[in-house]
Amino acid sequence: MWGVKDKVVIITGAGNGIGRATADVFAAEGAVVVVADVDGAAAEKAAGEITAAGRKAFAVQCDVSQSSSVQKMVEAVVARYQRIDILHANAAVQINKEATEITEQEWDLLHSVNLKGVFLTCKYVALVMRRQKKGAIIISSSGHALVTYPNCSAYAATKGGELAYMRGLALDLAKDGIRVNCIIPGATDTRLVRGYIEDSANPEETRRKLLDSIPLKRLATPEEVGRGVLFLASEFAGYITGTSLAVDGGILAQG
Ligand SMILES: NC(=O)c1ccc[n+]([C@@H]2O[C@H](COP(=O)([O-])OP(=O)(O)OC[C@H]3O[C@@H](n4cnc5c(N)ncnc54)[C@H](O)[C@@H]3O)[C@@H](O)[C@H]2O)c1
Repeated sequence: MWGVKDKVVIITGAGNGIGRATADVFAAEGAVVVVADVDGAAAEKAAGEITAAGRKAFAVQCDVSQSSSVQKMVEAVVARYQRIDILHANAAVQINKEATEITEQEWDLLHSVNLKGVFLTCKYVALVMRRQKKGAIIISSSGHALVTYPNCSAYAATKGGELAYMRGLALDLAKDGIRVNCIIPGATDTRLVRGYIEDSANPEETRRKLLDSIPLKRLATPEEVGRGVLFLASEFAGYITGTSLAVDGGILAQG
């Protein structure tokens, strides 16, 4: 129904969380899913589970912060499938620290995986999509790009950067028939959010405050975010580019 059957979809950070769930969402629609993750064992495990369910997946170990690693991953996918139809640039790390506590190394790590990782992945995939004159790119940004919490300034900077980068990339690639959008997950039940809660001084209170701040009063499931990615990748979103879709239980509606 979604028109992604046999489409080749690269999902970075697909070993866990939102990427892992998005891999299942696409595989269930008949897509060929490239499970890319810095954690090679997690990528192999995810691809193994998908293929064991009778669906199509291929694991690639890839560190999105390293140009050579991204180029090798793109080359491997093109060698195997001759094309790339959809990219979900999703891999990221999160470090939660007060603005004066975060170290330069931590700032650099966040920016090299999150922002530079999105740049490298989009750049090398776009070079392939440009030859095809067709493609869809979905970047996992975050509500932190627009409204953030204490102890998240460095992470929020990377996510805001992704949103701004997405707009420019969409303009550069529109003439090639490539659409570029962001998905903006709200608080989603993955290890990233569990880490945010557990790293806080009072995890019980942090969890309660987080849930209180969400109009729908619950975390998103990773699958709910994955379905948003599927919509943006599909032809139903054929006239949508340079914008973002929030799957956030209403958090951003509060201003
Ligand atoms: N969970 C949330 O509430 C939430 C909210 C808003 C935005 N997001 C965004 O969604 C995306 C996915 O988050 P998640 O919650 O699923 O996180 P997660 O930690 O569950 O999964 C992230 C995956 O990325 C991989 N990864 C980390 N560094 C990498 C690298 N250098 N190269 C390749 N892969 C790497 C990890 O191994 C892991 O498998 C991120 O971009 C995150 O910023 C998450």
